[in-house]
Amino acid sequence: MPKNFKANITENILLNEHFRLLNLSPLSDIIVPEPGQFYMLRTGDTYDPLLKRPFSIFRHEDNTLKFLYRIRGKGTLSLSNLKSGDIIDVIGPLGNSYSAPEGDFIAIAGGIGIASLLPLLRRFKKRAYLFYGARNKDELIMLNEARSLSKEIFITTDDGSEGEKGLITDSLSDFLNPSRITHYALPIYACGPTPMLKELSKVVAEYPSSLLPLNKGRMGGVKCYVSLEEHMACGVGACLGCVVKTVSGYKRVCKEGPVFDIEEIVWE
Ligand SMILES: Cc1cc2nc3c(=O)[nH]c(=O)nc-3n(C[C@H](O)[C@H](O)[C@H](O)COP(=O)(O)OP(=O)(O)OC[C@H]3O[C@@H](n4cnc5c(N)ncnc54)[C@H](O)[C@@H]3O)c2cc1C
Ligand code: FES
Repeated sequence: MPKNFKANITENILLNEHFRLLNLSPLSDIIVPEPGQFYMLRTGDTYDPLLKRPFSIFRHEDNTLKFLYRIRGKGTLSLSNLKSGDIIDVIGPLGNSYSAPEGDFIAIAGGIGIASLLPLLRRFKKRAYLFYGARNKDELIMLNEARSLSKEIFITTDDGSEGEKGLITDSLSDFLNPSRITHYALPIYACGPTPMLKELSKVVAEYPSSLLPLNKGRMGGVKCYVSLEEHMACGVGACLGCVVKTVSGYKRVCKEGPVFDIEEIVWE
């Protein structure tokens, strides 16, 4: 089945000042996406911006593809102005996906990173300890659904308007504290801004495999997978515009990612 297709916009719902939910009805048969995969969406019918923009699949149901997006710049602003009935060009699903957790797991979302993780939480209901951080209460988008799908939820905001005031990585660090031995064994799935992921790499590095009595024999400590949100141009591996430095050379986020083992990335 081709990955290039046209889709009809059925809804482009304003959730609040910053966020929208885009519902697309593909005009041809499509490949079913996996949690963590993404699509390149044409954001308007002019050539400005020229390039499509990448968005994680937020939900796929009844042959509708749903995307949760934050308005940031030209492309997302242009996307927010599209109306039901408009037709857009789409490529996807692209990239790899989150590996399936065997039991309970930890999910850590920073802001709009929740869009990429909710499909995983929906597939493995009530198995995630969700750590969800945002700038403020209004930016904790889809909080009710996130709460209902989680085994337990931990919330932080920068201004303390909801949950604890502070960084979500600090909250995770407390949770992983050595006195709560069972938590070391849980795999972690993360999506959010690069500073959050970089901080997460430091938290994870504090838990070497020698501290993992439940995971004897596993190399590298807490297993953690991160979805990276690099700028993309082609989205299909051709332009090298999205490369990241890894311990085994440069890799393309759109092709070898967007999900990587956190230990593979060279955090600079
Ligand atoms: C695999 C992947 C999945 C994504 N999924 C989602 C999603 O589900 N929902 C969502 O809202 N966004 C998602 N993004 C980010 C989204 O693609 C960008 O916000 C969008 O491309 C911005 O386009 P723009 O033209 O509006 O902004 P631009 O005019 O291109 O940029 C505006 C500002 O945002 C910054 N910016 C742009 N793109 C990125 C980026 N990728 N990472 C960090 N900063 C950036 C720019 O530096 C600039 O400061 C994803 C990105 C990737 C790579
Ligand atoms: S965006 Fe072109 S290679 Fe990744």
